[in-house]
Amino acid sequence: MKKCFWAVLIAALAAAACATTPDNSTDKQVEEILSQMTLSEKIAVVHAQSKFSSPGVPRLGIPELWCDDGPHGVRPETLWDAWASAKWTNDSCTAYPSLTALAASWDRSLALAYGKSVGEEARYRKKNVLLGPGVNICRTPLCGRNFEYMGEDPLLAGEMAAEYIKGVQSNHVAACVKHFAVNNQEFERQGINVHVSERALREIYLPAFKKAVDAGVWSIMSAYNRFEGEYASHNKRLLKDILKEEWGFDGAVISDWGAVHDTDGAANGGLDLEYGTHTDGVSINTENAYDKYYLAEAYKQKILAGELPESELDDKVRRVLRLNLRTIAGGNHGSMCSPEHFALARKIGAEGITLLKNEGGVLPLRSDARKIVVLGENAIRPMVVGGSSSSLKTQHEISPLDGIRAAFPDAEVVYCRTWNSGQPTPGNYNYSQFDITETRSQEELLAEAMTAVEGADYVIFFGGINKNRYQDCEGQDRREYWIPGGQNTAIAALCEKRPDLIYVNISGTPVAMPFAGSVAAIVQAYYLGSETGNALADVLTGAVNPSGKLPFTFPVLLEDGPIKTERQYPGIQDENGRWQVYYDEGIFVGYRWYDSKGIEPLFPFGYGLSYTSFDYSDASVKVAGGKLKAAVTVRNSGAVDGAEVVQLYVSAPAAGEGPAYERPAQELKGFEKVYLAAGESRKVSIEVPLEDLGYYDEAAADFVTVKGQYTARIGSSSRDIRSEKSFTVR
Ligand code: BGC
Repeated sequence: MKKCFWAVLIAALAAAACATTPDNSTDKQVEEILSQMTLSEKIAVVHAQSKFSSPGVPRLGIPELWCDDGPHGVRPETLWDAWASAKWTNDSCTAYPSLTALAASWDRSLALAYGKSVGEEARYRKKNVLLGPGVNICRTPLCGRNFEYMGEDPLLAGEMAAEYIKGVQSNHVAACVKHFAVNNQEFERQGINVHVSERALREIYLPAFKKAVDAGVWSIMSAYNRFEGEYASHNKRLLKDILKEEWGFDGAVISDWGAVHDTDGAANGGLDLEYGTHTDGVSINTENAYDKYYLAEAYKQKILAGELPESELDDKVRRVLRLNLRTIAGGNHGSMCSPEHFALARKIGAEGITLLKNEGGVLPLRSDARKIVVLGENAIRPMVVGGSSSSLKTQHEISPLDGIRAAFPDAEVVYCRTWNSGQPTPGNYNYSQFDITETRSQEELLAEAMTAVEGADYVIFFGGINKNRYQDCEGQDRREYWIPGGQNTAIAALCEKRPDLIYVNISGTPVAMPFAGSVAAIVQAYYLGSETGNALADVLTGAVNPSGKLPFTFPVLLEDGPIKTERQYPGIQDENGRWQVYYDEGIFVGYRWYDSKGIEPLFPFGYGLSYTSFDYSDASVKVAGGKLKAAVTVRNSGAVDGAEVVQLYVSAPAAGEGPAYERPAQELKGFEKVYLAAGESRKVSIEVPLEDLGYYDEAAADFVTVKGQYTARIGSSSRDIRSEKSFTVR
């Protein structure tokens, strides 16, 4: 006899209440629900019913499943069938700093707090799935989505993502780690076929996803691009062999929006839930558009005809139901735009901001400054909007200029635009309170600034890029490494007059800074969300001592990097016009390249200054219990409290002759952030399982830790190693 609707629902809710990890009771509930579903109901749960939702099983009390972007806050509501704004008036959110800024904090506890906080907002907005975090590796500074990811190192990205995920999911909201896999450029992202060695795949591009799975992520988004000739969203090797079988992922694979291309591929390749096909849904006048999804009617007919097995569908349904059960219960109703959320956004922003240069200690700004001249379009430009799917509508956005004004209420704060990008705030999501219209010529703007800087105590230029197309924006890559417009010329001219100029760079990716030698200070500010100006003022004034460290290398020139040919980037077209990209640099990505080739970057990975100084002493390393155990005493030897990120790099012996065995000069294997009062010392310990020191041996199809002599390099950045100790793996 069939159980009644309510009995199933109550049992499902009870199971979900304790469903933070896979357990037998959830699986039992899943089986019970599955056994009562008709074929049509099963088909209904594996594809969308609207832009961001799928229907659940109403007859059995399983509610709709709602997804939303992600990852920096909860995206405003869109129309049922289209990307356009639904024009709600109660969907403003807290905009948190970009994930690059979070990564730059190197603070796992902050990543957990970020996830918990943004998850509360998602919960309040009744979302089951928050589409983030993104962990694709920064392979080229030109990638339009680097700002949504966590830098160039798989360990850093994976560790931070794991905590973010735990935080989000503590609210019974699923995180959805994206974009699986090798989605490292936006150029031709919808179909470019990625050729990457198995070794680079395993050592560079997959580990952060694996860490997310190990952290218990409940969903994962399959990418747009192809891998080994097959779309990532149909890719059996990625989705079934690696993700589900090898890693034991028990959650649901959600397609990127519009990433599915045919029924057989989607049915057999390991995808569980199809979203975004025929991007505009019924608005392009397709009747019953959702029935035309590849995992909808066509899939049903193929099952009925015996062409595709129902068992495969059952596996998908199980996974989607598990996602449902995990996210429909829990006592927490979430919260939105609370003072605590804004305070956290400010804190994360301040902890991520990275001080790159501070000649003569020009920073922090003295509190008795009488006249401060603020320059640059980015001082007033809204940055919460733009960038495409991560664009947000926030309750408030404090601009850098507002932040400086608030921090110096008694000073004269003069603002001059200095240059004009000519770009409007990105459309569609223009909820911003800022008016950045400008009609004057570049010459007039610069002339005004040149006069204004006279007699100022401080001159601060807020420059960099923005979230318009071809900058930090999904869908296109940047076209050049330089920051746009007349900024370089303007800064050079201003430095002639004011060599004490402070340059604040707003970007979520490395950019060229030809003026780096001429300015007195450089601050990397990423995108900091609602509290941008306040977080910046905190660091510029010294209310917060900067402790951010770069999650990616800034090369002097793009040509210094590992990408030398068109086939490496942006790719080449084959005889059929299909785009192919070859990751010929293998594992030599980011600092692994610069360090191994002895190329001096502008600013190295892991680098960031402080207003205090840290001494390292008593470093020790030993191998015991299958682990490398490193320790070092760090002392805050300056006059102000601050935080230091202790980084452990390891240089490993080659396993043999030839490129297959080549190792990078060093690789990050552990890190710990410590907060130390002025004068305080603390012993910092870092442990690394020896298997994590391995390289991927393609012949053995596994990670292998070779025996021999290694070097542990403990330091304050990848290029500021304070202690080197050798150790032997036997
Ligand atoms: C993006 C995803 C995003 C999705 C839904 C896609 O275009 O690649 O990251 O989550 O749209 O907005």
